[in-house]
Amino acid sequence: MTSINTIFKHKLAQYLAVLLLAYLFFQFGIPILSTIFTGVAAPVPAHLLWTIYMPIVALVLLLFVSANEAAWQEFKAPLRTLVVEQENRRVVLLRRVLLVAVPLLAGLFTFFQISATVTAPAGLRSIHPADPGTITVGGEQFVLQGLRNPLRGENGEVATADIEAGHEIYITHCVFCHGDALNGEGMFADGLRPRPANFTDSGTIAQLSESYVFWRVAKGGPGLPVEGTPWNSAMPAWEDELTVTEMWQVIAYLYHGAGPNIFPAERATSE
Ligand code: HEC
Repeated sequence: MTSINTIFKHKLAQYLAVLLLAYLFFQFGIPILSTIFTGVAAPVPAHLLWTIYMPIVALVLLLFVSANEAAWQEFKAPLRTLVVEQENRRVVLLRRVLLVAVPLLAGLFTFFQISATVTAPAGLRSIHPADPGTITVGGEQFVLQGLRNPLRGENGEVATADIEAGHEIYITHCVFCHGDALNGEGMFADGLRPRPANFTDSGTIAQLSESYVFWRVAKGGPGLPVEGTPWNSAMPAWEDELTVTEMWQVIAYLYHGAGPNIFPAERATSE
C-alpha cells in the first residue's frame, strides 16, 4: 500500500501540494498577517491572485521540477500515463471523466462569469433630474433658462426645410434606439436599460422645455447627474457629432413627428 509519505515523495504531488499551500497563503494567510501587523485585513484582489500570484508560483515550481532530467521524467510520468494508458481500466475511466468534466466546468465557469443579471440596482433613478443651468456646447455657452429653439418663429412654427433636415438626422442617428415611430421601440431598445425614451408618450418631451431637450441631446447619458443613475443611460452625447443647428433641427422634428398633442412645455421663467 502506498503511504502518504511515498505519495509526497513524488514530484507531481509536491507540485500540487505547494500550489495549494500557496493558494491558502495568499487567500487566507495574507489577510491574517495584515490584520496582525496593521489591524486591517488586506485581502489579495482576486484578479491579481489569478493573473499574477498563482501563475508566478506555478512557473517557479515548474522550474524546480524540471531542474534535472530525472525529476522532470518523474513529474511527467503520471500525466503521460493519464493521457496514453490503454490497459489500466481505472486510468482509462478517469481520462474519460476528465475529458468530459474539464470542458464542462470551463464552460459553466465562463457562463456564470459573463451572464448578466437583471436584478434592479437598489436606488431609484430620476428620469428627469434638474438640468445644470448652463452648458457649453461647441465652445459656446448656453443659459438654459428661457432658451428657445432659434428655429421657431413667433407662433412656434418651424420651416419645413428644418423639419425635413431634422427628420434626416433622426433617421441617420436616433432611429436605432428611439424607433421609426418615435415610440422608443428601435432595434436596440430591448437591449437597453433604461429603455430609450418614447417621445409619443406624454411623459417625455411633452413635459419638457426645448432647452431641457437641447441639454439632453447635447450631453446624453454621460451628462446626467448622479440622480440619473444607478443604471447608466445609453443615450449618446451628440455635441461632437452634430452642430448646434442640427441639434435644434432634430429637436424640432421630435416634437413635429411625435404627434399633434406633443409640443414643448414652456419653461417657467423666473420672475
Ligand atoms: C444608443 C441608443 C440611443 C440613441 C442612438 C439615441 N438615444 Fe436618445 N435616449 C436613449 C436612452 C436609453 C434614453 C433614456 C435614458 C435617458 O434619458 O438618458 C434616451 C433619452 C433621450 C432623450 C430624453 C427624453 C426625456 O424624456 O428625458 C432625448 C431628448 C433623446 N434621447 C433624444 C435623442 C436624439 C435626438 C437622438 C439622435 C440624435 C438620440 N436620442 C439617439 C438612447 C439613445
